[in-house]
Amino acid sequence: MSFDLSVIPNKNIVLAVTGGIAAYKSAILVRRLKDAGFNVRVVMTQGAQAFITPLTFQALSGNPVHTELLNPEAEAGMGHIELARWADLLLVAPASCDTLAKFATGLADDLLSTLYLATKSPVWVAPAMNQQMWAAKATQRNLNTLVEDGVHVIMPDAGSQACGDVGLGRMPEPEDLAYQVTQYFHRAQRAIAEKFGLLAGKHVVITAGPTREAIDPVRYISNHSTGKMGFALAAACYAAGAKVTLIAGPVSLDTPNGVRRLNVSSAVQMLDLSMQMLDEGCDIFIATAAVADYRVAEVAEHKIKKAGDELNVSLIKNPDIVATIAGQQKRPFMVGFAAETRNVEEYAAGKLVAKKLDMIACNDVSRADIGFASDENAMTVFFADEYQLEKRDLEKASKQEIAQQLVEAIHDALWHEIEPV
Ligand code: C5P
Repeated sequence: MSFDLSVIPNKNIVLAVTGGIAAYKSAILVRRLKDAGFNVRVVMTQGAQAFITPLTFQALSGNPVHTELLNPEAEAGMGHIELARWADLLLVAPASCDTLAKFATGLADDLLSTLYLATKSPVWVAPAMNQQMWAAKATQRNLNTLVEDGVHVIMPDAGSQACGDVGLGRMPEPEDLAYQVTQYFHRAQRAIAEKFGLLAGKHVVITAGPTREAIDPVRYISNHSTGKMGFALAAACYAAGAKVTLIAGPVSLDTPNGVRRLNVSSAVQMLDLSMQMLDEGCDIFIATAAVADYRVAEVAEHKIKKAGDELNVSLIKNPDIVATIAGQQKRPFMVGFAAETRNVEEYAAGKLVAKKLDMIACNDVSRADIGFASDENAMTVFFADEYQLEKRDLEKASKQEIAQQLVEAIHDALWHEIEPV
């Protein structure tokens, strides 16, 4: 069975592997969790290390593996309390009888049992053991205690076991576990969205308006962008519960309520600030700015004097801001815009791929009634293939209404319902 795992941004999973033959499946589980976008750190008990080496998990997770509680060197890296705080979910898979017993009684004699007590995150256990050990009264008693304590128990599958027995006790397949974890975060996010807004807790960075490329101290090259769409989006994202930073080129619009506005002039300044936002932590990047494609190669220090019938100014290419951000290793959800005068959808779909965007909203600026300076707009939205979402036509409406629909589209792409395939 295979599952489509959609991407969950910026969530941290501590995967604890304990002693059992199913530990080999946990190696694949790390891969599947990483595929789904999770940051994964692995904790191994001593028993687990008898079955599989920490090196395997280090290579797969891209992080050092945590094995000991009282190792000063390891504690200097990410100590057990820090690890407990880092986790958005503590997933114990496979969970041995011994681990369940420790959790149930509150023993804290190794790294994992200590982590269990120290974390505020949800804890999931996927018990895997011989069917007789699973059925043992002590195991069932411990499981009941854990459920009462709020631990989520993932039921083992039935089937043939490594020891030759047949019965309950097999750890579910890694794809199945990763799917359940992904679903959990989707459900949690939907509940948050219902209560606090579609983009609650997200930091959205929006570029807007034109850029101004100086020729000399008094002249520049620019375009007619008014910034209205970007400003409307900033207001809509704020209303949807997001923290919003608006990087604005020179426009004459009031800053929407609650929005942090950073003014820039040139494309290079816009890129610099956008990169700084990545360091600050940015979840969604929306590029509405009409960035000048070229800038003057050498800006004159003094006003250029009138002389002769011709003036040649040499231009060089500006950086592509949205493509540069999308090319970073730890990148936000990327939304681009495309304004075209012909073959609108074809060009937009091409830009989605070329600029490595997650979503693109395009409009036909040859239509006199919408686009640039207009208060209204009509758009078609495309999503990257991995989201498996149909394109959306947003009918002609005010830029505020279009912005609201774009917020919904972003939310849907981030947290769309995923079904097993
Ligand atoms: O390539 P084109 O300018 O049509 O792409 C439009 C999209 O790319 C918009 O989202 C725009 O904000 C972004 N862009 C950018 N930096 C550039 C050029 C475009 O971020 N230098």
